[in-house]
Amino acid sequence: MKKTILITGTRKGIGKKLAEYYLSLDFNVIGCSRGSSTINKTNYRHYELDVSNEKNVVKMIRDMKKEFNRIDILLNNAGIASMNHFLTTSSDTVHNIFNTNFLGTFIFSREVSKIMMKQKYGRIINFTTVASALRLEGEAIYAASKSAIENFTQTISKEIAPYNITVNAIGPTPIETDLIKTIPKDKIRDLLNKQAIKRFGTFEDIKNIIDFFIDEKSEFITGQIIYLGGIHN
Ligand SMILES: NC(=O)c1ccc[n+]([C@@H]2O[C@H](COP(=O)([O-])OP(=O)(O)OC[C@H]3O[C@@H](n4cnc5c(N)ncnc54)[C@H](OP(=O)(O)O)[C@@H]3O)[C@@H](O)[C@H]2O)c1
Repeated sequence: MKKTILITGTRKGIGKKLAEYYLSLDFNVIGCSRGSSTINKTNYRHYELDVSNEKNVVKMIRDMKKEFNRIDILLNNAGIASMNHFLTTSSDTVHNIFNTNFLGTFIFSREVSKIMMKQKYGRIINFTTVASALRLEGEAIYAASKSAIENFTQTISKEIAPYNITVNAIGPTPIETDLIKTIPKDKIRDLLNKQAIKRFGTFEDIKNIIDFFIDEKSEFITGQIIYLGGIHN
């Protein structure tokens, strides 16, 4: 049976590549973003919404359930970053980052878990960052929002384990997408130098971990956070 995968943040960047990859493997792929779809494939559905808009997300999941009857995998990829010293960070920025990164992950996880619980199967993968493990200066708010996601991942992995749902997280190093475009080159170089393996991450690195987490044989792996590049907490 065709698997159904929901990926948030599929207009561009890692989310778009993941959507295209799972479409190439013949999955039903459902994506979303604030902007309109940039993928035009028969097995792809796109919802234009903000992941922190509870009402719209609930409606999206209800529509998906009607059309596909099940959701096997959820990738909470949508995210925003803001690099700034905390002293010059406005509370509006903090609201925006926490709403997209943490609240969005929470709402999608809760709504999709209700369906996964009924089908007694599910795989949820959340997105964190090495900036959280490194307590990286200049990224205090972004890293804090991702630390919240890590803690949430580990706690809910216990709460929904009885329903055969695993919840894990991936923590990428810098990967060349729009997200890191505005970070000064010397800051990126410093960050790469903190890694055991000193290079940019690639989409292949991400896909490898996600394929591992969603593999049927990974049913005993939950509550784990895998950082790329040899970073650890
Ligand atoms: N690239 C890196 O170096 C790196 C490193 C560590 C972790 N990560 C994590 O990896 C994930 C993907 O990052 P990326 O590099 O692919 O970023 P990106 O290129 O900036 O893409 C972000 C995606 O999320 C969507 N998005 C943003 N805010 C949204 C919202 N409120 N509601 C719905 N969709 C939203 C964007 O589409 P719209 O603008 O149309 O909404 C876009 O499709 C993020 O969680 C990020 O924190 C990335």
